[in-house]
Amino acid sequence: MKNTFNHLIDTASLSLTEIDELLRLALDIKKSPQTYVGACNGKIMATLFYEPSTRTMMSFQSAMLRLDGGVIGFDNPSGSSVTKGESLKDTAKVVSSYSDLLVIRAPWEGAAKAAALTADCPVINAGDGGHLHPTQTLTDLATLSAELGRLNNLTIGLCGDLKYGRTTHSLVKTLSKYKGNRFVLISDKNFTLPDYIKNHIAATDCTFTESDSLGDALPQLDVLYMTRTQRERLAVGENPTTFVLTPQLMSQGKKTLAVLHPLPRVDEISPLVDDDPRALYFKQANYGMYVRMSLIVTLLNITKSHPPVPLLNGKTYDGISCLNPKCVTNPAYNNVNLPRSFLRTGNTYECEYCSHPRAGRGD
Ligand code: NCD
Repeated sequence: MKNTFNHLIDTASLSLTEIDELLRLALDIKKSPQTYVGACNGKIMATLFYEPSTRTMMSFQSAMLRLDGGVIGFDNPSGSSVTKGESLKDTAKVVSSYSDLLVIRAPWEGAAKAAALTADCPVINAGDGGHLHPTQTLTDLATLSAELGRLNNLTIGLCGDLKYGRTTHSLVKTLSKYKGNRFVLISDKNFTLPDYIKNHIAATDCTFTESDSLGDALPQLDVLYMTRTQRERLAVGENPTTFVLTPQLMSQGKKTLAVLHPLPRVDEISPLVDDDPRALYFKQANYGMYVRMSLIVTLLNITKSHPPVPLLNGKTYDGISCLNPKCVTNPAYNNVNLPRSFLRTGNTYECEYCSHPRAGRGD
């Protein structure tokens, strides 16, 4: 099979066959881990984490170590040349010459794509600001596929901070590739899913409704995806409602309900729910390690088997730059010479790094 990717920047840009193959491999590694010992012997993975992480970074490290590969990197840019003013592009270029795979988490939207443009090895997006989190999505899909048995014809409730929660953005974009999924978006009315993701659903054969009541939404759900408020991304004065999943609410859910959470949990799921067999979030974290093993093995093999697939498919337009202040292309972030690239539909230009739309000239 010819793959359409060399990096993992956005799970939604993979084909269904590619996603299914990654999940199949993850579940096979989970079933027979001994078969894969030594699979990355002599390979080095670098983790560039400009933002805090427990699960994502440690599951990547553990995944690589279980495959007999080595790990280098930082989990706090204050100990690296970033504090001397080095740009993301330069760091990615240099570190990729020491390693076979880069895993990057950064607060700038589109950071992983920008890094992939200069890196000399595959790049994995481990979270780019409030934009996307593709490896969490693969983790979520592996959990649903193994525990529920399907990824289509599901009613999926997503609850919490849908504005800044990158896990929900990636998950909705990817699950809307499967037939017959219905999303129930449960949030404070000021923290709904960004319009560009809702437009994305509208362009598929999936549908969505919005609600501000977890109790009203719960009985119809096959999947409930809880998320925390992304406090670190709130603008001054923003203070969303916290929704709390309790045993009382769980009693209104289907017997087959699957409750997921990317973790960390703050106070949006009562610990009293943890022993309910429908609470899958700790199992989900474990699937994450196998998903990352699958991804590492796949990306290292892909590099050998086919030439680079272009990362940018849009164009640069005179006088058009991205208006999202959190976009990696914002000049404040010191990524000089990053080519601007937009996908144009009529008078709307979508930034290919952060996905934010803007109107054309004269607006
Ligand atoms: C998520 C993230 O970093 O976006 N965590 C994770 O990777 N498992 C969710 C979160 O921090 O709320």
